[in-house]
Amino acid sequence: MVKELKVTKVENSRLDSVDFNNIPFGHVFSDHMLSIDFKDGEWQEPEIIPFESLKLSPACSALHYGQSIFEGMKAERGKDGDILFFRPDANFSRLNKSASRMGMPNFNEQDLLYYLGKLVELDQAWIPTLEGSSLYIRPLYFGNDSFIGVRSAQTYKLLIMTGPSGPYYAKPVNVYVEDTYIRAAEGGTGFAKTAGNYAASLYPMSLAKENGYDQILWTDAKEHKYFQEAGTMNLFFVIDDVVVTPPLSDSILPGITRDSFITILKDQGVKVEERNVSVEEVFTAHKEGRLSDAFGAGTAAVLIPIKTISTRNEKIELPDPNSRELSINLKKHFVDIKRGLAEDKFGWIYKI
Ligand code: COI
Repeated sequence: MVKELKVTKVENSRLDSVDFNNIPFGHVFSDHMLSIDFKDGEWQEPEIIPFESLKLSPACSALHYGQSIFEGMKAERGKDGDILFFRPDANFSRLNKSASRMGMPNFNEQDLLYYLGKLVELDQAWIPTLEGSSLYIRPLYFGNDSFIGVRSAQTYKLLIMTGPSGPYYAKPVNVYVEDTYIRAAEGGTGFAKTAGNYAASLYPMSLAKENGYDQILWTDAKEHKYFQEAGTMNLFFVIDDVVVTPPLSDSILPGITRDSFITILKDQGVKVEERNVSVEEVFTAHKEGRLSDAFGAGTAAVLIPIKTISTRNEKIELPDPNSRELSINLKKHFVDIKRGLAEDKFGWIYKI
């Protein structure tokens, strides 16, 4: 049952200090955040409070042992002025799945949706309207015991912060096929949106960046043969006019954008295959002129074309992103649904 929501408003809004024509991803935060603690075996009263620094114990368990999970979701201003959330139920359900894998208590998804609605309603002036920008919503949930022993925490903090954001990638990406490091292995936490998965990617990512790449394409932990995902997004290839994407497993984040793209494409009669796709298959298809598109899909990234794919020995250049009809139309249709400009055929929009 929804608990009473205590609201403490900021004294002075920071809204006037924001240049809404220039909002790089992830730097700007709205005035308020939602905060809910878990202690004594239950969720406490939720609160909306000013967005501000937290006071944590140096022994905060999440900082030591990584019991920390998060989500990424978006809200837009619809053409009639409504606030439109895209599949927030799917994000909260995934957050609970991540929580279970990380040994953290589940929460009531319906209640959290209600609190999120109240938070975004309060900060609705922060929803950007510039094309390509959205209100990015970041739920964060972590173990908060002041205790240096390895165990599941007994106290937790769940926060939801929001902020107007522009695109995650400014332009099509050059990617590197990783064959040394891994992101996730069978039986691990690859399907959970947990901090450690991202932490483990940072050093390999910095090596890739030094070599001029924007992003790593992770491959399977056993053979480095099959594509998994890109860490910030799921992967799609178009080979012989069939859209191919790696199948979900415990090593791949079950992307909500990924699922939405598959649903839209199938509905449009496009053939989509969720199956293992090897590096060799993609490179051979390119050589034979059968690879027409490759792109990443994620909440932050939306749909970003892949410009080049490199291994340590080879580099392939994909067709000009401006000529890729399938992904251009897919992105437009997807963004139109989110903005309330196309029919919400699949019941994805939660409106307040
Ligand atoms: C998102 O797409 O929302 C994510 O959480 C990915 C992150 C790398 C920004």
